[in-house]
Parts: sequence; C-alpha cells; structure tokens
Amino acid sequence: MDIKKICVLGAGLMGNGVAQVCAQAGYQVSMRDIEQGFVDNGMKMITKNLTRDVSKNKKTQEEMDQILARILPAVDLGEAVKDADIVIEVIIERMDIKKQLFNELENLASAECLFCSNTSGLSITELATTTKRPEKFIGTHFFNPVPVMRLLEVIRGYETSDETLDIIKELGNKIDKEVIIVNEAPAFAVNRILCPMINEAFFAFGEGVASAEDIDKGMVLGCNHPIGPLALADLVGLDTLLMVMEGLHSELGDKYKPAPLLRKLVRSGRLGRKTGKGIYNYS
Ligand code: 3HC
Repeated sequence: MDIKKICVLGAGLMGNGVAQVCAQAGYQVSMRDIEQGFVDNGMKMITKNLTRDVSKNKKTQEEMDQILARILPAVDLGEAVKDADIVIEVIIERMDIKKQLFNELENLASAECLFCSNTSGLSITELATTTKRPEKFIGTHFFNPVPVMRLLEVIRGYETSDETLDIIKELGNKIDKEVIIVNEAPAFAVNRILCPMINEAFFAFGEGVASAEDIDKGMVLGCNHPIGPLALADLVGLDTLLMVMEGLHSELGDKYKPAPLLRKLVRSGRLGRKTGKGIYNYS
C-alpha cells in the first residue's frame, strides 16, 4: 500500500504528537478535533515542539515550515478523512464514543482505508465490530511524549489481517518507531505491566509508606527509571491510568484493584499535568 495521507482524529496530548511524527516522516496529515480551539491548541503544541528542535539545531527552520505545511487542521470529519489511506483515532478513552466515531467513519472513509486506534487498553476486537472492515482494524499504541518515546505497540485484533499488520509495521518504521507486536489482551503488554506498578505507588503513598517525592526518588535512583511512578502518573493522566486499571480489574480480578487514592484524586479533578495538578502541582 502506498500511504500518502494519514488522518489523525484527536488533537490532544497524544493526537498532536502522532500528527507531528507522521508529518515529520513526510506524510500528508489531517488533524481533526471536534472544536476549533482544540485543533488550534494541537497546532500550538506541534509548533512549540518543532521550535524547540530548531533552537537545538535538530531541525532547520525550513524543515519545520515544511512539516507544519503538511498538517491540515480540521474540524469537519468528512474533510479530514477524505482520501486518507490510514485513520489513527486518538480521542477520549470511552468505548461508546470511539464506537460511534468508527461507525460514522465507515461511510466517510474509502473502502481501502485502514482504521487504527490508539486506545491505552480498550479491546481492539470489540472496537472493530462497529465497522465492516475488522480485518483492516488494528491497535497503534503510542507513548507519551510521542515525539520522544521510541516505542509503537501494535495490537492485533481477533480479525486483523496479516496484510494490515505488515502495512502498520512498515508505517512504524517510517515514522522512526520501534515496533512490538502484541496479541489482544487487557491493557496489551506495556500497560499491563506499567500501570499496576504505578497503581502500587498510589497504594504505598496512600498508606503513608513514604512521601510522594521519596517514592519517586527511590524508583529513579534505585531502579534507573527516568521519572518516578507518581510523576509518570501525572504525565499520562490519572484518569487514563484509572481507566486502564479498571479494565484490568474487571477482566483479570482483584490483583489489579485501583488504589483508593487514585480514585479519590480523579474524582477531585486532579488528573495530572493536563489539569495543572495531580500528585504534584504544576502552576
Ligand atoms: N514533546 C516533545 N519533546 C519533549 C517533550 C514533549 N512533551 N518533553 C520532553 N521532550 C524532549 C526534550 O526536548 C528533550 O530533548 P533533547 O534530549 O533533545 O534535549 C528530551 O525530551 C528530554 O527532556 P527534558 O530534558 O526536558 O526532561 P527529561 O530528561 O526529564 O525527559 C521525558 C522528559 C522524556 C518525558 C522523561 O521524563 C521520560 O522519559 N519520562 C518517562 C516517559 C514515559 O515513561 N512515557 C510512557 C508513559 S506510558 C504511556 O504513554 C502509555 C499510555 O497508554 C498510558
């Protein structure tokens, strides 16, 4: 398949990163969100990241201008998906809303277009049932911050074809990511292991085992993690973490029970960096 245009649905934290790495690799990209303000914020983030690269001499101003010119910001779904070879969905982590979007896409996208979801843990097989092309449906799980993190976790749904898998593996290489292939399972491979570790840090902090700073310092200095688990929770979003833990809990049992403190902070609106406060304050 000769991929020319990639449509990224969602311009938030992960979506604008996905749009950036695709445009950097030379693809035409449409980045769509439901409100103009969200799209504008996404473009601002990409511009900020590219400007930093230019100031560090990692890119020239000309390269930055070319990358930005390849990204078409959009609110209209039909316009965004028109002529797209691949759609990458990066919207809110809600099964019902994702299903509704893929249902709508079925009639707007070309028959050959591949559908990818960047879900952190929802079932790819279930999402694919809303389309008439489950063999062209696949999980593409990026990591935050997308322009920096090397991994692309590719998830095979029950009906995903070998051909779709091969195309997406090649895409992963073209956008300069290392690919791992995972068969569908709750939270896939990385979040299955990472999120319970972070959840345990919430238990430890909630039970007064140590301060948040010392738990994080312990994991950074004792285990060589780049940042501690509580700081990482603030980076990925406490709501996302809770959603992954709830999925693991409901499918795999009590071993994966979300920590009470995690629930409490999500209920209070402390979702991490994106709301200015989580475990830590970011004012
Ligand atoms: N976008 C683009 N580039 C960024 C960035 C961002 N949001 N944040 C940092 N960077 C770049 C910086 O420009 C810098 O580039 P340089 O090496 O060329 O100078 C480099 O990353 C390092 O940044 P800093 O020096 O400012 O800060 P750190 O050394 O603390 O690194 C970090 C920042 C790369 C985010 C590092 O803290 C890290 O690796 N943290 C762990 C991230 C992680 O584990 N992510 C996975 C989360 S799980 C997930 O996403 C899955 C989901 O489903 C839950």
